[in-house]
Amino acid sequence: MSETNSGAFPESFTWGVATAAYQIEGAANEDGRGESIWDRFSHTPGKVHNGDTGDVACDHYHRYPEDVQIMRELGVGSYRFSIAWPRILPGGTGAVNMAGLDFYDRLVEELLENDIEPCATLYHWDLPQALDVGDDRGWLTRDTAEAFLDYTDIVTRRLGDRVRTWITINEPWVISFLGYGVGVHAPGHRDMSEALTAAHHVLLAHGMAMPVIRANVRNARAGITLNLNHVYPFDEDREDDHEAARQADIMSNRWFLDPVFGRGYPEDLPAILGGATPPVIHDGDLEAIAAETDFLGINYYMPAYASARQQMEAGGQFPHPDPKVERTAMGWPVEARGLRDLLVRLHTDYAPPAIIVTENGAAMDGDRVLAGRVSDPRRTAYFASHLGACLDAIEAGVPLTGYYAWSLMDNFEWAEGYSKRFGIVHVDYATQTRTIKDSGRYFALAARDNRLP
Ligand code: FCB
Repeated sequence: MSETNSGAFPESFTWGVATAAYQIEGAANEDGRGESIWDRFSHTPGKVHNGDTGDVACDHYHRYPEDVQIMRELGVGSYRFSIAWPRILPGGTGAVNMAGLDFYDRLVEELLENDIEPCATLYHWDLPQALDVGDDRGWLTRDTAEAFLDYTDIVTRRLGDRVRTWITINEPWVISFLGYGVGVHAPGHRDMSEALTAAHHVLLAHGMAMPVIRANVRNARAGITLNLNHVYPFDEDREDDHEAARQADIMSNRWFLDPVFGRGYPEDLPAILGGATPPVIHDGDLEAIAAETDFLGINYYMPAYASARQQMEAGGQFPHPDPKVERTAMGWPVEARGLRDLLVRLHTDYAPPAIIVTENGAAMDGDRVLAGRVSDPRRTAYFASHLGACLDAIEAGVPLTGYYAWSLMDNFEWAEGYSKRFGIVHVDYATQTRTIKDSGRYFALAARDNRLP
């Protein structure tokens, strides 16, 4: 509990845990699943730490009943998972693989039988490789947004009678800037103009899919998840740092928030990026992207500090004014006020009907299973301070309706492979043994009592 909040969450608050298909499922070649750009990328030497791939991951594809039982033990009310497009449409478009749909059907049934509300993300980065061929490919072509519509239609027709909560796209910034701008994620391109084009098509896919979800799901609750960093000037007293912060805010946040909330793109991004070419926008695109949503999902991990004089650090990290700030195993500074300030800002500037924290959590080194326990006090402290920030925001009037811990369990952390552990449940990859960490027990208490422990 912070000094300002009461410790208690609103009555209907949703407590959840989150994962994504490629990070946990494994079974990469089973039951007709097609190849995704992450299979191709992770199997390309030098792209992922240690040469790790998602081929087996947490073997969740086979172990989902056990994983649902763990969620039940944690007492969470909701599970956010993603659907693997290449399981449903191995060729990206065309023939539907029924076995793929059946898997998610079984998962949803298992969740509902255990009173856990499913929250499904349609796109968490595993684009079918078949859509990434030729020069104008992947998210560089509008055809991919069209293909996403068909995929959305197929999935929501099958699951829409039982799954009400849908997230179209996870983190357009990461998809476009890390995938097409700096190349540390699949498909590994390095071109800022491509990043802007990809971002536009990803947002278009989101906007065009919204009416499809509404048509297929009665009482749908649907929205998009953005990764956002609240940006502070490195030095409050310097005018040029305020300008640097304004520019960083456009790049990290407003390029996505503004069009989703009907304001079009901020004009200065291409200039900020050093003359990158703006995307080609067709008539009606901005109206489509501004489709009404029921909530804004946000993934928050850290704030950003913008300086006119200091460059980004190696690995794309912003500099931090406090050299002693605590950092996670990812090198990310731990600062909960960034979450509170972000939530308040979103409410003030964009006023979405509801906000859900769809991911928040920390990778920390040193997790060890000892006598069936994992002591991880730094991860627990991370959750405590960030849940406190959520409460502060709620008490300041922000309509925050839910919080999903990232992640249910240790998993394939993209370019970092299995070297970074974000789970509140430990996974021994050699034996696939799961062990609830102390942070998981802490989270379970919070969920049970609907207040900060
Ligand atoms: C987010 C991703 C998620 C996970 C966390 C640590 O960017 O959405 O899959 O990797 O970061």
